[in-house]
Amino acid sequence: MDPISNPYSPGAGKRPPALVGRDGQIDEFDVAVRRLAAGRSDRSQILTGLRGAGKTVLLREFRDVAARHSWATQSLEAAKDSLFVHQIAAAVQGALLDLTPSRRLSQMASRVLGVLKSFHLSWEIPEAGTVTLDVDPVDGRADSRILERDLTDLLREVAQHAKDQNKGVVITVDEIQHLPMQHLRPLIVGLHEISQLGLPLLMVGAGLPSVLGLLGEARTYAERLFSFVEINSLGDDAAAQALAEPASAEGVSWDDGAIEEALSLTQGYPYFLQEFGKQAWRIAEGPDRITRQDALDAIPLVRAELDSGFFRVRMDRTTDTQRAYLAAMAEMGPGPHRSGDVAAALGKKTTQVGTVRHSLIQRGLCYSPRHDVIAFTVPMFDEFIRHHVTCSS
Ligand SMILES: Nc1ncnc2c1ncn2[C@@H]1O[C@H](COP(=O)(O)OP(=O)(O)O)[C@@H](O)[C@H]1O
Ligand SMILES: [Mg+2]
Repeated sequence: MDPISNPYSPGAGKRPPALVGRDGQIDEFDVAVRRLAAGRSDRSQILTGLRGAGKTVLLREFRDVAARHSWATQSLEAAKDSLFVHQIAAAVQGALLDLTPSRRLSQMASRVLGVLKSFHLSWEIPEAGTVTLDVDPVDGRADSRILERDLTDLLREVAQHAKDQNKGVVITVDEIQHLPMQHLRPLIVGLHEISQLGLPLLMVGAGLPSVLGLLGEARTYAERLFSFVEINSLGDDAAAQALAEPASAEGVSWDDGAIEEALSLTQGYPYFLQEFGKQAWRIAEGPDRITRQDALDAIPLVRAELDSGFFRVRMDRTTDTQRAYLAAMAEMGPGPHRSGDVAAALGKKTTQVGTVRHSLIQRGLCYSPRHDVIAFTVPMFDEFIRHHVTCSS
């Protein structure tokens, strides 16, 4: 059918495809925002799930929810080598601009600007963006050079500023599993303080399931501070809807048999569903139906597309040892697997493969759901590896 109207192509339509099957999570977040706005307390959230499960789009949806309540919203993506301190300062600055138009900012918000200035000076952050911080730093605030104190000061100040205007702040942190301990700990401490004071600032983090262990390690009370939400593949009804809705908006329907084929290949993973929709649309004659035969014809295209993109990028720059470990896991099926069994399959002791196991977790290709257990972070990765990965060791 007409590629121009393909509703599954990212960026094809003006709006991204509507989120299906996440009403519960969206409602829960909406309640959290409204509770804080009403001066009650609620918890920041952490979304965990495999790659392609739909965490990033849900974060975007959460920001939209907050914006509908006139809250300031900011997003950042943690990366191993990124300067988190700079990112958070930029997010606070962005939130201030959201809350107060820049021409009024320096009159209305001189105190919070002063604390931001202290933070900038103390952490040697160059000025950027549209706000010039030509205010005096506030002495004794955000200038200790101890990140957990300075970050707490900064977050408290912006949250208080928002509250004074009957608003609030939401900051989303994607790929939070990349945040190093030296940054994760202070962030948790800061959020803890904010929640104790009942100030209207929420953070929503999203990351691979490994983030659960990291948070517990960072601060024991992290488990109580956040509510943890698992983002899984979509159930059959929601997955069918995710396929049917975008097409229906273009006057095209999926035959039941076509949907069945799609669900069976994709196992309900949103990223795979979207790819399936895109290829099925490309291949279907139409004009107003996608048939089972279209779906069957789309399958090799979907596989090829996922193999050369989604899966392949994960394998880039892996070492022979890492590939051998992944191949041993994949031979055993989708997992999770006992680490001891993987080691045994490689003819090694668990301790001998500890380093490579750790490196795969660090790279975000695997995670450890329980002690001595290892699993892929990428759905259906075992299949890809069995078919495509050869290793020399
Ligand atoms: N609930 C959903 N309904 C429809 N499409 C979705 C849904 N969740 C995710 N998608 C689509 O699936 C793809 C992967 O989502 P993304 O949020 O990037 O996954 P993650 O961040 O978990 O890796 C995106 O293209 C997104 O538009
Ligand atoms: Mg993501």
